[in-house]
Amino acid sequence: MPVISFANAKGGAGKTTAALLLATEIADRGKRVTIFDADPQKWISTWADLPGRPRNISVVSQITPASLAEQIMDAAEDSDYVIVDLEGTENLIVANALSVSDLVVVPIQGSSMDARGGAKILTLIKKLEKVVKHDIRHCVALTRTNAAVTTRALKAVQEFLAVKGIDVLMTPIVERAAYRDLFEFGGGLRAQDPRQVTNLDKAQENAALFAAEILERVQVLPTRRWYHVFKRAG
Ligand SMILES: Nc1ncnc2c1ncn2[C@@H]1O[C@H](COP(=O)(O)OP(=O)(O)OP(=O)(O)O)[C@@H](O)[C@H]1O
Ligand SMILES: [Mg+2]
Repeated sequence: MPVISFANAKGGAGKTTAALLLATEIADRGKRVTIFDADPQKWISTWADLPGRPRNISVVSQITPASLAEQIMDAAEDSDYVIVDLEGTENLIVANALSVSDLVVVPIQGSSMDARGGAKILTLIKKLEKVVKHDIRHCVALTRTNAAVTTRALKAVQEFLAVKGIDVLMTPIVERAAYRDLFEFGGGLRAQDPRQVTNLDKAQENAALFAAEILERVQVLPTRRWYHVFKRAG
């Protein structure tokens, strides 16, 4: 089933946070999710060891560049959704994951450095599309935005993306303490205590809208011809 990767060549863009929010939102809807933790910092693997991990989320921590594409394809056959959290760079692991993705989400904070890191991934996607001979659907998710104000830097990034005709999610991921807390205390947003987490309801609403937009984009999948090509080659 759908493979959704999170990539930005710049570190700290919000990939891991966005990947975990999506995974927990999907799990809340009763679906089976496999997360590939290809971030060397292994935040999602650490999260998985905390109490409260939904039973329908499994995390794969052992990644080998040469077999990642095949590992992902095998997981896609057994899970409802596969989510891949990638390192903030461009390397073989990133290229392999993107080449078998149904959707690549590029998280970008409102800064030109993040936008340049995101642009590198968009260029890499274009190159990979020539190799795999099909379009690799992709979109940008603006991250860590301020709930109250739109900064000049964020406006500049939005204009840059609009000029390039890039698909940008309407729901930005807002800066919320609740999202950081997931990595401290484990579980999903539904498990957090509203008395202890500021604006938990707003965080839950934001995450649900973000996930809905992603799921909308992977509802209709193209035929996975390349799966069989890879399998035969293996
Ligand atoms: N929406 C958010 N609200 C609050 N904190 C956030 C949000 N998004 C990211 N952060 C914080 O910003 C930092 C970087 O985020 P994250 O680890 O998700 O980025 P990354 O792109 O995966 O980084 P890396 O390239 O190092 O893997 C973390 O400390 C995280 O808790
Ligand atoms: Mg990360």
